[in-house]
Amino acid sequence: MTDASAPALFTWEFAADPYPAYAWLREHAPVHRTTLPSGVEAWLVTRYPDARQALADARLSKNPVHHSERAHAKGKVGIPGERSADLMTHLLNIDPPDHTRLRRLVSKAFTPRRVAEFAPRVTELTNRLIDSFAARGEADLIHEFAFPLPIYAICDLLGVPAEDQDDFRDWAGMMIRHGGGPRGGVARSVKKMRAYLLELIHRKRAQLGDDLISALIRASDHGEHLTENEAAAMAFILLFAGFETTVNLIGNGTYALLRDPGQRRLLQDSVGRGETDLLATAVEELLRYDGPVELATWRFATEPLTIGGRSIGTGDPVLVVLAAADRDPERFAGPDTLDLARRDNPHLGFGHGIHYCLGAPLARLEGQTALATLLTRLPDLQLAVDPEELRWRGGLIMRGLRTLPVSFTAVR
Ligand code: HEM
Repeated sequence: MTDASAPALFTWEFAADPYPAYAWLREHAPVHRTTLPSGVEAWLVTRYPDARQALADARLSKNPVHHSERAHAKGKVGIPGERSADLMTHLLNIDPPDHTRLRRLVSKAFTPRRVAEFAPRVTELTNRLIDSFAARGEADLIHEFAFPLPIYAICDLLGVPAEDQDDFRDWAGMMIRHGGGPRGGVARSVKKMRAYLLELIHRKRAQLGDDLISALIRASDHGEHLTENEAAAMAFILLFAGFETTVNLIGNGTYALLRDPGQRRLLQDSVGRGETDLLATAVEELLRYDGPVELATWRFATEPLTIGGRSIGTGDPVLVVLAAADRDPERFAGPDTLDLARRDNPHLGFGHGIHYCLGAPLARLEGQTALATLLTRLPDLQLAVDPEELRWRGGLIMRGLRTLPVSFTAVR
């Protein structure tokens, strides 16, 4: 059995560069049973066709009640801190028909048009953040830029008043810092966020505005509305799903550009000419090349099934490794090369099937605006440390840098 000689997974070296290990798995053990750092046993799916099929397979449930070990009850799967709260009923934890109903309702509120109208605000936020450190000539792009941008953006969209947004920054900071670590602080932050959101929803119900929370309250489907708990869970998952992912898109994306001067120059010149085509394909390529979501969120087999020739038992967890599938040489030409102009790029960075990322239009807007503004305003942006010194976060699902120290000369 080939799996016995599999490379070590989930070590520090692996976190710094998981791609060689994923290449080995794709070739020798494309559906691989492993023990995760939490002790939970799970299948890793690494080839593109298997990954795509698994993401859309209705026999793989998102609901942790289907896990044979019921590890969710022990806090080993799912979002930290969500267990005791009513936040469980969110899109990433449910299956049809509940998923279909909730997703339809939220889609009526969180429309591509609402996101498009938000573009000037994202530009303004991006510039404001750059203003806050530009004069210094150096910054940590994760803490001072990539991290606050999506938090303020989502808070603005939801309609969280400006004076409360720094609370969200603190709570989110706690969640990202301790993502896989101590549960106490994270659980407290989640609890505070939930209490705040419930109160806000209550207040907005009395006086609806044109923000996303008001739209969630207003949204109806065949006369059906979201309950206050459902609206709170929805606002929470928008924050949760849209936050660390976007931090990592900006962080991993900027890092990849800084390490490839030729590609960076192409993009910088194109942005300088006011073009948007290359910027759009660049963000897709960065999502493919080193995307924010390394492994798709949990799935559990509701009946025995076969993936890539391996038998998966009822109740087994299946983790689709998006980062591995998106480097599959059977699907992508020169998969380990960053090619910002890549056109044939059906990457799985936003998932696939009914759980396909609901926030993709917002993520694209934030990613494109952040990169274009950075390259324009800090044209000589460069890494301020040796790449060897950079540390990656150790979480299971996400892939992202802890810090990204840079230096530059700012222009207005
Ligand atoms: C789902 C990636 C940003 C909201 C997903 C999934 C992926 C993903 C891979 C599917 C997970 C699975 O099937 O297990 C990303 C990436 C982002 C990003 C790479 C940034 C670059 C956002 C933003 C929001 C958001 C900004 C909202 C504000 C959601 C929601 C779901 C989701 C609500 C669940 C959809 C469902 O289950 O029907 N995302 N996401 N995401 N994403 Fe995103």
